[in-house]
Amino acid sequence: MSQFLSNCTTSAMVDAAANLLAGGLVAFPTETVYGLGADACNADAVARIYSVKGRPADHPLIVHIASMDGLGDWADDVPGYVISLARDFWPGPMTLVVKRSGLAGDFVTGGQDTVGVRVPDHPVACGLLEAFVRAGGQGVAAPSANRFGNVSPTTAHAVADELGDYLAEGDQILDGGACDVGVESTIIDCTSAAPRILRPGAITVEMISEVTGLEVSKGPTKIRVSGSLDSHYAPKAKVVLDAEPAAGDGFIASANVPTPTGVIRLLEPKDDQEYARGLYLALRQADALGLAKVVAISPTGAGIAEAIRDRLSRASH
Ligand code: TXA
Ligand code: MG
Repeated sequence: MSQFLSNCTTSAMVDAAANLLAGGLVAFPTETVYGLGADACNADAVARIYSVKGRPADHPLIVHIASMDGLGDWADDVPGYVISLARDFWPGPMTLVVKRSGLAGDFVTGGQDTVGVRVPDHPVACGLLEAFVRAGGQGVAAPSANRFGNVSPTTAHAVADELGDYLAEGDQILDGGACDVGVESTIIDCTSAAPRILRPGAITVEMISEVTGLEVSKGPTKIRVSGSLDSHYAPKAKVVLDAEPAAGDGFIASANVPTPTGVIRLLEPKDDQEYARGLYLALRQADALGLAKVVAISPTGAGIAEAIRDRLSRASH
């Protein structure tokens, strides 16, 4: 049984940082989703992330650092626009894929010559990472704290439901409340002359091109992004998009769409931010209620709506 910490005091975060340095796993909140962390320099600890998640070993992990000062430890030859992006959007829901330094082992990068780096923006994540640096650590490798292919957890209880059976005695789950953004970070490939979005998130194309002055492209490259598998982020219930729900179906749609008789309303967000924040909890609730089918009406529009459509389409695949 892992340890569940509902009160993340400074001393709890110092303990958790020591646990990471000693090779333990610590699940922690970020502003996007909960992550399952290990010392990114410890091959054995990182190997345990893969076994707890049931994730294939060639899928790379994101290295979480306390501030952009740590970027140079993990990256080599970063283009100038990376510094602009880091300055404007870190701490925040953005992962930069850059050429790796010697510090980033194959066991973190899935054997690729790039590494994903992010400075998260959540008081518990920041407190943990700062304590980790003070204790001599350099980065915390952390995928979303779910079993491979499942919906990412946005609460500590969802982490316990997902991973409770797989974590070991000394491992910890830090409770920092519900995640504010609710969908995973924007992943940007920064290995070319201009940025390319590998996974949409709260940091949008428009924001990236405004800060960098560059034309931003979208879509997969030869780089492996596990979240870019067609089927991912999926609950047990069958997810159907933009259809008419029948009695007994779960239903996700913005607040201005009424709930047909007999349909189980799982989410009625007033705006796209609320949609993103509530989506994964609504999909989890569908499974908790044992629903066979969930109908979701996709948000139209730009901004984070694009990330919501991306996750809905993978959940429905
Ligand atoms: O919001 C987030 O990004 C959350 C929180 C915990 O930070 N993390 C997260 O991690 O979503 P994960 O492992 O579930 O998804 C990270 C994605 C994976 O699809 C992985 O393939 C991709 O990032 N990734 C990591 N390093 C990469 C690299 N060097 N090149 C390309 N993709 C990379
Ligand atoms: Mg994930």
